Amino acid sequence: MTQDVFIAGYSDKLSARPGETVRFFVSSRASTDFTATLYRSISADPNPEGAGIIEEDASLYFNSSSFTSRYQGFTPGSFAQSTADLQADINNDLVIKLWFMPKILSAADQTLLAWGDILIILDPQGMISAKLPGGVSISTVVAVKCNQWHSLDLKVLASGVMALNIQSMTTEKADIGTARDGGSDFGVAQMFPLSVTSPVRIAAGFGNAPNCFNGKIEAPEILVDGISVAEWDFSQSISSLSVKAITGPDLLLKNAPTRGVTGRKWDATEFCWRHKPEHYAAISFHDDDIYDFEWDSDFELVIPDDMPSGIYVMRIEAEGQYDAMPFFVCPPLGTRRADLCVLVSTFTYTIYGNHARPDFESSWLKKISAWNAYPHNPTQYRHYGLSTYNNHTDGSGICHASHKRVLFNLRPGYLTFGGATCSGLRHFQADSHLIAWLHNQGIDYDIITDDELDRDGVAAISGYKALVTGSHPEYHTKQTLDALTDYRDNGGGLIYLGGNGFYWRIVRHSEDPALLEIRRSEDGLRAWASEPGEYYNAFDGSYGGLWRRNGRPPQKLVGIGFTAQGNFVGMPYKRVCYDKNMAWVFDGINDDLLGDFGFSGHGAAGFELDRRDEKLDEGEDITILAQSFDEDNRFILVPEEMLTHLTNLSGDPEADVKRADMVYFKTAKGGQVFATGSITFCGSLPWNNYDNNISTLLKNVMRKFLGS
Ligand SMILES: [Fe+2]
Repeated sequence: MTQDVFIAGYSDKLSARPGETVRFFVSSRASTDFTATLYRSISADPNPEGAGIIEEDASLYFNSSSFTSRYQGFTPGSFAQSTADLQADINNDLVIKLWFMPKILSAADQTLLAWGDILIILDPQGMISAKLPGGVSISTVVAVKCNQWHSLDLKVLASGVMALNIQSMTTEKADIGTARDGGSDFGVAQMFPLSVTSPVRIAAGFGNAPNCFNGKIEAPEILVDGISVAEWDFSQSISSLSVKAITGPDLLLKNAPTRGVTGRKWDATEFCWRHKPEHYAAISFHDDDIYDFEWDSDFELVIPDDMPSGIYVMRIEAEGQYDAMPFFVCPPLGTRRADLCVLVSTFTYTIYGNHARPDFESSWLKKISAWNAYPHNPTQYRHYGLSTYNNHTDGSGICHASHKRVLFNLRPGYLTFGGATCSGLRHFQADSHLIAWLHNQGIDYDIITDDELDRDGVAAISGYKALVTGSHPEYHTKQTLDALTDYRDNGGGLIYLGGNGFYWRIVRHSEDPALLEIRRSEDGLRAWASEPGEYYNAFDGSYGGLWRRNGRPPQKLVGIGFTAQGNFVGMPYKRVCYDKNMAWVFDGINDDLLGDFGFSGHGAAGFELDRRDEKLDEGEDITILAQSFDEDNRFILVPEEMLTHLTNLSGDPEADVKRADMVYFKTAKGGQVFATGSITFCGSLPWNNYDNNISTLLKNVMRKFLGS
């Protein structure tokens, strides 16, 4: 396993209001203390040709302090563990039953069930073994088949017989197990009476190497002397992180294995687990699941009342190495401190957390060093848990995300595209182009993140004259989408400065809101695809996937929606609106070409583009202000827009559809929306020391929305 980084940390919350406590968890292998120092983050772009990293001293709110270094580890791999010991005196017979579907054979043993010294494993050759006290064991001689359901039936009798029967569901008559009459030769009879007092683990063993299982398990049961002492039905309480027992102790699910997955009874007659839970009686375990490092807290910060809302970075340092944990300070609920609210897309940041890009190259390290950029990349530390843009060891898509672990890409100075000729930033770092611009323009703002918006609803943002998003507000819960819609429809001013926004539906876990779920169902531009029958979120039973497939396309909120995607390249917009009523947008701008420059893709319209589609919006009077077409044919039409190789949903030539539309419209009750439809828009703001036509255009929009 790759070694852990020298010093790293995370916080229990990504955002907080005054009076709330943010706890910081640190692992440091230094022999000296580590220091913690607080800064306010203005620019997180390390590009020496741009603003560079800009952070202001914030020691007024947290005195720089030293803390004892200590190493804190973590163990990836999901499993179920009983909440108490299972105690049994076995006089005559022991029977263990379960169903399992292995996904891969791995180099190490994989554990199906462990109870004290009783262990059932899948070995690297695909054989199943049961190991019992006193060196008694039994193994199959025919390999199981991956991606097929098998029943497992282990019988150990005081008479000396021991049998392990594995049967494949798909090859009904082929009993691939082996049964051995052990008799006294194998010491079976001598094991009795057997007393066991131990927790039970499903899908993992005990000890330092739990040898977690990759696959699905269903209906485990332990019978002693003919009586069920432990039995679990995974079709119950599918939304929970625990399993109530039918008999015996309940189970706690560690590291968030996936529920709401098809089980052995699933026959494609029903696609929602809520309707036929018995078809979804399996849990899918992965040896690389990890959502909470569960480190001990090293220090904390109670947000002072007078701490300005903003983006802060807790920098920790020891022996010349560092980590930098960003967090977002919001105003007290119901207390606006500015007219403008910046909505920080913490859900999208988390969903992308530790995205190991397949194009990462060690040649990037040279640039990282030259720019003094953030040194670590998730690709180098895969055991920290990857993102929902990556796959598990078994090839399935990762559908859970959490910030309660070290997220290397959520760091000032992190380069997403290290080989790009521009800054190559996305998410937190790319959004700092907007933050730096606001500071340069002297525009006051409050921060609200997805967390507050989800929890407090429209109350988190009502009263602001305008709300501005960053470059990529892609992931939303029903609650955040409802809040934004309510805000807009009650007179709010919505400024959407991104592309591919409001795209995927996600759900927070009701038992731990830090845990997010994404099902990449059916359609959309996807890093992986959910399996048939697994399109419904386990966390709340809602239909997962695109908001568009849930009847709420982004066009309904902001007038435009995802239409084209390409490499991290940008183009300029061309002004297309000369209506006198819209002249305020272009005040002080003489160019027709807007944003033919920028730190993201060298152009304001790039990477992912949104366009207007009047079939999908709500019929508002939407004005297209400027457009950018994919003239060099570098972008693809997104899958949900395509029909055949010749046709697409719009009925127009593809070249006419692959474009970004910059739009403006008014809503009832005096609300208004300005939307750019491009991920790279914000990257143009700091260009030429903030003196450029994109900067001027946004200044005009802000002036109009803020009434300043
Ligand atoms: Fe995205």
